[in-house]
Amino acid sequence: MGDRLKTIFIETYGCQMNFSDSEIVGSILSKNEYALTTDITDADCILINTCAIRDNAEQRIRKRLKELKAMRRNKPWLKVGVLGCMAERLKEQLMNEEDIVDLVVGPDAYRALPELLSQVEAGSKAANVLLSEEETYAEIDPVRLGSNGISAFISIMRGCENFCSYCVVPYTRGRERSRDPETIVNEAKRLFERGYKEITLLGQNVNSYRWDCDGGKVDFPELVKRVAEINPKLRVRYSTSHPKDLSDKLLEVMATYPNVCKSIHLPVQSGSNRMLKLMNRKYTVEWYKDRIEAIRRYMPDCAITTDVIAGFCGEEVEDHLQTLELFSWVGYDYAFMFKYSMRPNTYAHKYLKDDVSEEEKTRRLEEIIALQGKLSLESYRKDVGKTFEVLIEGTSKRNKEQLFGRNSQNKVLVFNGNGYKPGDYVMVKVLDCTSATLIGEIVEN
Ligand code: 5AD
Ligand code: SF4
Repeated sequence: MGDRLKTIFIETYGCQMNFSDSEIVGSILSKNEYALTTDITDADCILINTCAIRDNAEQRIRKRLKELKAMRRNKPWLKVGVLGCMAERLKEQLMNEEDIVDLVVGPDAYRALPELLSQVEAGSKAANVLLSEEETYAEIDPVRLGSNGISAFISIMRGCENFCSYCVVPYTRGRERSRDPETIVNEAKRLFERGYKEITLLGQNVNSYRWDCDGGKVDFPELVKRVAEINPKLRVRYSTSHPKDLSDKLLEVMATYPNVCKSIHLPVQSGSNRMLKLMNRKYTVEWYKDRIEAIRRYMPDCAITTDVIAGFCGEEVEDHLQTLELFSWVGYDYAFMFKYSMRPNTYAHKYLKDDVSEEEKTRRLEEIIALQGKLSLESYRKDVGKTFEVLIEGTSKRNKEQLFGRNSQNKVLVFNGNGYKPGDYVMVKVLDCTSATLIGEIVEN
């Protein structure tokens, strides 16, 4: 028999959903008499919650595993577990390739962690990568890791069935399933009672949230409405919307409730219809533009952000130019921009050719980044002179006298504190900006 592992450190990579999952893992472990530590040197077990979305995300984790191996030299009893998407993608293969790994657990198997950890304690290796059609961890009250005590994530659904041809997520996170709305609303209420002021509802494609019960159907707009009605001082955000089913009904709910934040993340991926078809995105550029116009009709002040992939299979310069054109047409406030990275076992890997050279991918990505830099600056400049309601999140790192927070559009504002504290709402007038921050002063009202 080995020793009981008592102290666990969780390290998280990847998307917001992964950070939210780590909080569920934290809760499961705490209930089973494990202590969580924020000091890695204290830990006798390190769990890394991993991402598989692009090859560089996986390379980063491989590098981290090497560092942990070095750490084990001074601490032979140290155990290491890999959770999340990379665990799901590579399964037990990961334990063979990386001899530091004792434990491999996929995103739907976290309830099995205490059992798996006791196998590890007994000296064996352990794995569970079963995907589930039902698991939503609905009644688990997540511990809030690394939280500012003001904003929190609530996952409302799991998995994805869109099968975009480049994407690994349907394989690592399995079938799409929604969580009981009552448990979501109750979690949001509990957070508000504990002083939280902002929650973000998370799902791979929140627009297809759906819960059928005796009392009728709850779709995503209805869920947002129920959460928004908890209290006008509780801000509600969500991520991510798929453009193919962003409904007017949702836009109407967003426009009706002042506490539903005016910011939409609407990943476009490409501005070329030919690429969108190859990507299996199920919308056209015309459809996407129509959705942008609808957003602007309902909420002229709504921020719009996106994701884009440069150099997907078969992308010609002409397709790339169409992406640039669409970026200029929309005038995004912010964008997450990536080079295409082939993921094993996806449709694109099996049936398409990754035929844009690395140099050309880089060149196209840099062009998009340069354009978006200008668009962001334009967007921030337009805010100079305006006054926004800001939820204060903390003290500025650069200057202790200054506070920072976000407006409804999710832009960061920095301003002198005037005795206010995190969690307060203040009105801030914007005096200046960079392409990523608004600089302002509190105006008393
Ligand atoms: N290569 C590059 N970027 C990708 N994304 C998803 N899969 C890939 C891939 N194989 C991007 C998409 C998605 C975001 C989360 O990551 O833009 O919206
Ligand atoms: Fe999140 Fe996708 Fe990365 Fe998994 S692969 S952590 S779902 S971004």
